[in-house]
Amino acid sequence: MDHSFEPLVKLYNDNGDGFTVIAHRGASAYYPENTMSAFKAALEMGAEMIEADVSLSKDGVPVVIHDEELRRTTNGSGLVSDHTVEELKRLDAGAWFGQAHAGEQIPTLEELLTLATGKIALNIEIKPEAVGKTPFGGIEEKVVSLVEQYGMRDYVLYSSFAYKAIKHFHEINVDIPVALLYDKKQSSGRRLTQLVADYDADAFNCSYWQYSKKWAEEAKEAQIPIFVYTVNDERKMRKVIQRGASGIFTDKPDVLKHLVDNMWKTK
Ligand code: G3P
Repeated sequence: MDHSFEPLVKLYNDNGDGFTVIAHRGASAYYPENTMSAFKAALEMGAEMIEADVSLSKDGVPVVIHDEELRRTTNGSGLVSDHTVEELKRLDAGAWFGQAHAGEQIPTLEELLTLATGKIALNIEIKPEAVGKTPFGGIEEKVVSLVEQYGMRDYVLYSSFAYKAIKHFHEINVDIPVALLYDKKQSSGRRLTQLVADYDADAFNCSYWQYSKKWAEEAKEAQIPIFVYTVNDERKMRKVIQRGASGIFTDKPDVLKHLVDNMWKTK
């Protein structure tokens, strides 16, 4: 393993290997994604960072949910952005995963911050549909301000598929770490290093299938950390680690943690 870059964010349980075990939507292989149970389990399993998708309710409250629509992960329907936070809180966000999980709610970002503060770093992924057309006062400002309020500035990595949000984060605060989530359509054939430069990003996130040797080498040469999603299979985890990624998003943080701890020990 060669993870010699300066860490982008602080980790509460840093083991010094320069690699981050990231629980994708919490420990989402075992609990309904983006719920407090999934986040608590990730913490208990020794994840070093929790990834959570953040959108905005109709009344402008940052809430944690992946899809633009409610149907897949709740008993509601329609758009998240057409519901107030009070309406969203009334929905069941666990029963779709199994009756044993009924009663889970859509968390607000504040609930997640309350759990995470002092315990675990976060990757807050801003959903593109929540990114406004006006440049200021939108989801980016709201999220940064909440993170500051909770004293979590050093422990949060921001990311988004919305390239304009990436750039905007550094207009709000130049010191906060931001990762560009690769989107082919917005990239118009640009090289990885060019994209990172164009949007003033600090890291590059891409899928397992996109993480080519070429990108791994380009990033390594330019000292750009790469975080790869979503890898649940041990053999693939090994491959990504050996290629030099700085972190992996997984639905099974227990599996990745175990693997990384053993690779590190036997190094
Ligand atoms: O941020 C990594 C990964 O979560 C990106 O894909 O679809 O899960 O938001 P998605």
